[in-house]
Amino acid sequence: MTRSDKVDTAPGETSGASTDTPRHVAIIMDGNGRWAARRGLPRAAGHKAGAEAVRKTLRAAVEAGIDTLTLYAFSSENWRRSDEEVSDLKGLMRYYLEREIDELAREGVKLEFIGDPSAFGPDLWNRLQAAAARTEENDRLRLVVALNYGSRAEVAAAAQRLAEEVKAGTRDPASIDEAALGEAMQSAHLPALDLIIRTSGEQRLSNFLLWQAAYAELLFVDTLWPDFDGAALDDALEVFRGRQRRFGGR
Ligand code: FPP
Repeated sequence: MTRSDKVDTAPGETSGASTDTPRHVAIIMDGNGRWAARRGLPRAAGHKAGAEAVRKTLRAAVEAGIDTLTLYAFSSENWRRSDEEVSDLKGLMRYYLEREIDELAREGVKLEFIGDPSAFGPDLWNRLQAAAARTEENDRLRLVVALNYGSRAEVAAAAQRLAEEVKAGTRDPASIDEAALGEAMQSAHLPALDLIIRTSGEQRLSNFLLWQAAYAELLFVDTLWPDFDGAALDDALEVFRGRQRRFGGR
């Protein structure tokens, strides 16, 4: 089956009998701080090592034929971190973009963002938009970076959009069903989410893709994010292939 033949595995549209390579994988990259603390290093060193793990994982995702990889890089709650750490993370994103954009473009990676990255200020926001524009024709792998993202905010914004349509008289309230709400979300164009991986042993979703996770497989691994790499991704894909997906059926 070629990539363009692949069928979207929306809930209810598949028997779920066997699982192949997941089409859409999302990762909660956790454990950078602990990785650094164990080495007596500042948290920024953990984030820097985390950016290297992003490179390795992305390369392996391309190799594995994953269609969409969504990474939780900065949550709407991460603003609670110290100004220094927020500034370090912004600096790292700027650095990563500068260093990686040529390779991302060459490798056929299409870069997108969810959340509200404009909150990072015009300099970074302009760079992010330029990088997305430069890679927009690529179709080998879609890399979605969640920046200043919160799932509840995404759902609330979708509800607001629909409410505005009702107010404008262009929508009947009775038409607001699961599909309508899903289509009003910022991430509506992404394929159905198949697998969420969280590193560092924590077992929660932390306001990440809550709506989309309804039928996703969840995988919690003990590896700290900076130690994650292509082999760790391949292991995760193997676990996924062993899962039976039923989407509410039997
Ligand atoms: C969680 O570890 C990690 C983050 C909040 C930031 C993720 C950022 C990166 C991996 C680097 C840059 C990203 C890209 C896309 C280039 P933590 O700090 O919460 O770790 P802890 O729980 O051990 O303290």
